[in-house]
Amino acid sequence: MNANLELIKQEIIAGAEELNSSKEVYEFKKKFLDGKTGKIGLLMREMKNIPPEQRADYGKGVNELKEWALDFLGELDAKMKEKELQARYESEKLDISLPAVELEEGNLHPITLVRNQLIDIFSGMGFEIFEGTEIETDYYNFTALNTPQDHPARDMQDTFYLSPEFLLRTQTSAGQIHVMEKQKPPIKILSPGKVFRSDDDATHSPMFTQMEGLVVDKGITLCDLQGMLDVFVQKIYGEGTKTRLRPSYFPFTEPSVEVDCSCFECGGTGCKLCKGTGWIEILGAGIVNNKVLENCGIDSNEYSGLAFGIGIERTAMLKYGINNIKLLFESDLRVLKQLND
Ligand code: DAH
Repeated sequence: MNANLELIKQEIIAGAEELNSSKEVYEFKKKFLDGKTGKIGLLMREMKNIPPEQRADYGKGVNELKEWALDFLGELDAKMKEKELQARYESEKLDISLPAVELEEGNLHPITLVRNQLIDIFSGMGFEIFEGTEIETDYYNFTALNTPQDHPARDMQDTFYLSPEFLLRTQTSAGQIHVMEKQKPPIKILSPGKVFRSDDDATHSPMFTQMEGLVVDKGITLCDLQGMLDVFVQKIYGEGTKTRLRPSYFPFTEPSVEVDCSCFECGGTGCKLCKGTGWIEILGAGIVNNKVLENCGIDSNEYSGLAFGIGIERTAMLKYGINNIKLLFESDLRVLKQLND
């Protein structure tokens, strides 16, 4: 009998040499120590068939073998687990001296940046956003803005007509009418959006972006307009920037003005950007024509309004020193990467 136990012990010792992982140790242990199927487990179960006088010796021998196997394989298991842990540490080791992998970070498009900046500036002055639709009726885009059929000012905006009634809006000014029809003064809105004209050269594109401003209240004057635009140019082009108003013509404003700002490149002494004049034209504006107020059911004896229209691309081109509008639409990453502030 002892010889049999010794054989099992040798088998365990020899078998253990072949084991390479704690999982294998676990399976190997089961082969010997499982209560029902393991070789040592079966020897225990044999106990009842052993003649009573040999039982004590038999039991002692089997128990000793079992204790030894538990110790032996337990130790092996612990060693194996330690080895595995070390291997894991090794494989998960971080070399903190390695240079980091550079992650390419995207940035907002310059048109979005300028648009957001304008919204920021004007919402700081209490303006709310109104977003109109890109398809408009002839009435909202022209007629209600005091530009009826056959008005010569329609020539200034080469229009994409979808039908005699519908068109792609040529100006965000159309938003003025929508707002004044729905809202009673005081009104203070900013209307950003895409506009469309059949126009295409270095500074014009068939699709571009405008931002319309409209304020209607009692006693609004050109001074309010210039005060707001002063804040705007100083935030966009720098502290010392000034504005100047020149007479102009738009059907929907009376008086109408063209707004210039002092050249932020040369400070007003004259350079290439301002063509030696010291001033740069930045937007159109004016006092809302009484006819436009009346078209929207607003009493022009009680209320007056100011309006302005800013070209976002033009603002971005001036701000970033771009001389061709196409650069803003071509999505060339080499260009766009340079245009984020
Ligand atoms: N809608 C004009 C344009 O697209 C710009 C403009 C001029 C808007 C004067 C205004 C304004 O609100 O008062 O050329």
